[in-house]
Amino acid sequence: MTELHAPARPDVAVVGAGSVGATIAYAALVRGSVRRVVLHDIDSAKLEAEVLDISHGLSFTPMGSVEGSDDVEICRGARVVVVTAGAKQKPGQSRMDLAASTVGLMRSIMPRLVEVAPDATYVMVTNPVDVVTTAALRLTGLPPQQLFGSGTVLDSSRLRHAVASRIGVAVQNVHAYVVGEHGDTEFPLWSSASVGGVPLREWSRTHGGALDGQALAEITDDVVHAAYRIIAGKGATNYAVALACCQIVESVLRDERRVLPVSTLLDGDYGLRDVCLSVPTVVGAGGALERLVVPMSADELELLHRSAHSIRTAVQQVGV
Ligand code: LAC
Repeated sequence: MTELHAPARPDVAVVGAGSVGATIAYAALVRGSVRRVVLHDIDSAKLEAEVLDISHGLSFTPMGSVEGSDDVEICRGARVVVVTAGAKQKPGQSRMDLAASTVGLMRSIMPRLVEVAPDATYVMVTNPVDVVTTAALRLTGLPPQQLFGSGTVLDSSRLRHAVASRIGVAVQNVHAYVVGEHGDTEFPLWSSASVGGVPLREWSRTHGGALDGQALAEITDDVVHAAYRIIAGKGATNYAVALACCQIVESVLRDERRVLPVSTLLDGDYGLRDVCLSVPTVVGAGGALERLVVPMSADELELLHRSAHSIRTAVQQVGV
């Protein structure tokens, strides 16, 4: 007879049961992204409470299971590992301010995770995510395709929502990316943005000033500073970043090959190498499969190099 309680291989292991990690586990089960979720955190009381609370709702979700443990062993054999563990931004604090503490944490947790899940695809979420992704790659020696960061997938969703709200079109039909650092030097690729196939810059000519220069500047500011605004109001962000992570996990597990601006180690694209930052990338089984080289204006390319410099400086400062 099959041992009914034999531990099955987790589809996704979420490391860190803080507000982001717990919401990722919850959202993945509500969306039916995965069948088996495990949560790992050293705070066993918090972990148990989150697992209990989520598990009590499983009769209302697609078929799924959730387990938790303060022992990293629970991540053994996971197909995808999402790393959210680390300090959270305090009001007014930048993501880069967290670099030293979170890279220190990666030094202790990454080798142990790779030991129990050597073949998993790793999605780094912990901030500053581009620095943390760089550190995790160097600490584990995993191939850059297999370990990447959630990057600006969330920021691009913020951008698409801001544009859709202004012009009264479904967010699904606004195609626009935020690229670079997931942080203060990120920026929208306005030159390639479109609404239902209409270049966004054309939209203003045919639809009045809804997306004129002033509007685009305001939208950019709103997107870059969105997290600060939310953190000031409720202490952390969790819902949208969790949904962004679910989309990344689904694209990996189902080999959907979605184009998502995840943070990967560049090796010459856009004239940049040895730096992790976000540009549109095909994500499928095995991880970050191919970075796309999106046409950029000279100004946009300059902003991308400026973002890369900010990330490199932070990586050098933490000495990873
Ligand atoms: C944010 C966090 C996830 O941008 O960095 O909400």
